[in-house]
Amino acid sequence: MTRVSSALVLVLGLVLGVMRPPPPSASTTAVASRPASSSVPSRADGGRYTSFLFGVDYYPEQWPESDWEDDARRMQESGVRVVRMGEFAWSLMEPREGTYDFTLFDRAIDVLARHGVKTILGTPTAAPPKWLTRRYPETLAVTSDGRSVSDQTRRHYCYNSPTYRRLSRRIVEAMASHFEDNPHVVGWQIDNEFNCHISECYSNGCRRAFRAWARERYRDLASLNRRWGTVVWSQRYTDWEQLDLPFPGPAQHNPALMLDYKRFLSDSVVSYEREQVGIVRRHRPRDFITHNQFFKNINYYDLARDLDLFACDNYPSFSETPQYTVGAGLTLARGLNGRFMVMEQQTGAGGQDYLLTGARPGQQSLWAFQAVAHGADGLVHFLWRTARRGPEEYWDGVIDHDNVGRWKHDEFEKEGRELARIGPEILGSRLEADIAVIKDYDAEWVYDYQYFTREVNVGAAFVDLFQAASELKHNIDIVSSQADLGRYKLVFGPYVVLMDPELAARLRRFVEAGGVFIASAHHAAKDRDNGMTDGTPPLWLSDLFGARRTEYFVYQPPSRDGNALRFEGGPALPVGVMAEILEPASARVVARWDRDYMQGRPAVTENRAGRGKAVYYGSFFNLEAARYLMERYATELHIEPLLSGVPEAVEVTRRSGDGADYYFILNHARESVAVAPGGGFTDLLAGGPAPERFTLKAYEYRVLKRGRLPGSGS
Ligand code: GAL
Repeated sequence: MTRVSSALVLVLGLVLGVMRPPPPSASTTAVASRPASSSVPSRADGGRYTSFLFGVDYYPEQWPESDWEDDARRMQESGVRVVRMGEFAWSLMEPREGTYDFTLFDRAIDVLARHGVKTILGTPTAAPPKWLTRRYPETLAVTSDGRSVSDQTRRHYCYNSPTYRRLSRRIVEAMASHFEDNPHVVGWQIDNEFNCHISECYSNGCRRAFRAWARERYRDLASLNRRWGTVVWSQRYTDWEQLDLPFPGPAQHNPALMLDYKRFLSDSVVSYEREQVGIVRRHRPRDFITHNQFFKNINYYDLARDLDLFACDNYPSFSETPQYTVGAGLTLARGLNGRFMVMEQQTGAGGQDYLLTGARPGQQSLWAFQAVAHGADGLVHFLWRTARRGPEEYWDGVIDHDNVGRWKHDEFEKEGRELARIGPEILGSRLEADIAVIKDYDAEWVYDYQYFTREVNVGAAFVDLFQAASELKHNIDIVSSQADLGRYKLVFGPYVVLMDPELAARLRRFVEAGGVFIASAHHAAKDRDNGMTDGTPPLWLSDLFGARRTEYFVYQPPSRDGNALRFEGGPALPVGVMAEILEPASARVVARWDRDYMQGRPAVTENRAGRGKAVYYGSFFNLEAARYLMERYATELHIEPLLSGVPEAVEVTRRSGDGADYYFILNHARESVAVAPGGGFTDLLAGGPAPERFTLKAYEYRVLKRGRLPGSGS
């Protein structure tokens, strides 16, 4: 794979937390317990997060101090309210072990404050100084071949190194107490992009921590042996010290070990983050605390629980179809703890040893507004000025490296004006959806290892379902498998392979209360230990679905020509890898296999249960399946589009506030399109009533407001 195409694969992974093939190496922690038990409470009001935060990432340490005043003045003129800084500056903040110096940042924060610009501080632990890694080489992450990673870039540390933990706590403590009384700091970002570049670790620290983690989880070895099934291949453990990380071996690993390794990796990051959150909160109880962006091997529902809001880093250029890929990612970000902002919004183009296709004029702001359309309550662009040296000298800033602001700057300034106008109105307004997709990290991680065929792509299913909803102009949520489903009408469960009685009971309650739940192939095939049981799938749910899965066949890529699910009086949808043969009991068969040896056998079933319906789709969702099922069941449930008269290339979302709805209408096409949403709207950006029909130029967007009728939901 080339660097750029691996970057494209990466974006889907970044966006949806799923990525294959598995990455080469590693990082992690001395976690002893699962995160849910002892989170640091987040602030219900989001801390000092009371206005729409528009701004830039700024690295004062990279520029002569004599430039700062001019930078701050130009930022102020461009509408900047906030900068993020500090997240890679450990070597300046602690030039020698135990000697701290934050004066550069004191001065930079002051200069900016004089121009009305507040600061979000990043804790600097993503880039440890050389004195640290040289004196304490055990802090380095280790790859699966047993080698420590180089300390010449960033993110090269192990979350489970007790030394790294100690030194991280110390620098964060020093930093938070130094800035304790600074009136210009409003928020904190913990570290930077956990698991970017490296998301596994095989260090001795991780090995010890993994044993402790497993002991805490299983309590006794007999239980671990039984639940993992270690009798297979003579893998029975007789001493905890025999337990090891999944180093490469001649044959395949036990899937139970592989899933627990992922859970452990995630818990390691969560507990590492929690230590920093606790310190910052103690010193700065009024500030908001966040962390930025999704990567592999982290359960972000766990990670976000300790934060006031989640932040994502939005680089649409990593995707060839950003309208949908990025839209799905923003949807996930919004669902983590209800509130999110963008901490790094792409400006222009970028690259490192590769170069991505950049934003075309107009598109930069369209992409920024897409984030706002999906609920962002803050937008910080990466970065103020393009770096002149170092690995990121090709990442565009708002200002070019020659210190000249060109079209990117003009667009940025326009965004600043627009967000200043609409920010106070939309801040805190929420997207409300009738449709949701369940995301269960444990279940998805099963496929990271047992990937079946290279075509299976869990992340893509979320993008396809998002696209299908977006084409029909519906808001859609992505929710955890622990979420309350009661507020939805239609719920999809892609790749929900792991089942337990509690989740089964929640799905049953949702359906019986009138919801429609649609599962895809392999649903509830395994228990939470990632093993089979003596039950016939879907485990705990065969009565809800009124059907069981008795056989399956796998089509190799490209699978779509292998078979089709032929709907009664409807289309024949191309198979997605799996062809499951269903055995209905009370269920009605709504589609049958089109050909091959299973021709005519049940492929999709529908079962009434209580006031709702459980639908079993006997293949993995692809775009065709997503489109058909979305339309069929949204229509059946009378879920109305947000707006009519809006063509496909134009995205619509709706944020709802106290007395008003805000419709974001975004033209992703390179040409003009006509839109006819009807009357009764105010154009928030232009001011005044919006015409009933209008033309959106390439990449143009509008925000229309309409009063909310009392009692009107979505
Ligand atoms: C992000 C990262 C930034 C910068 C940016 C552009 O992933 O957080 O520090 O590297 O990408 O490459």
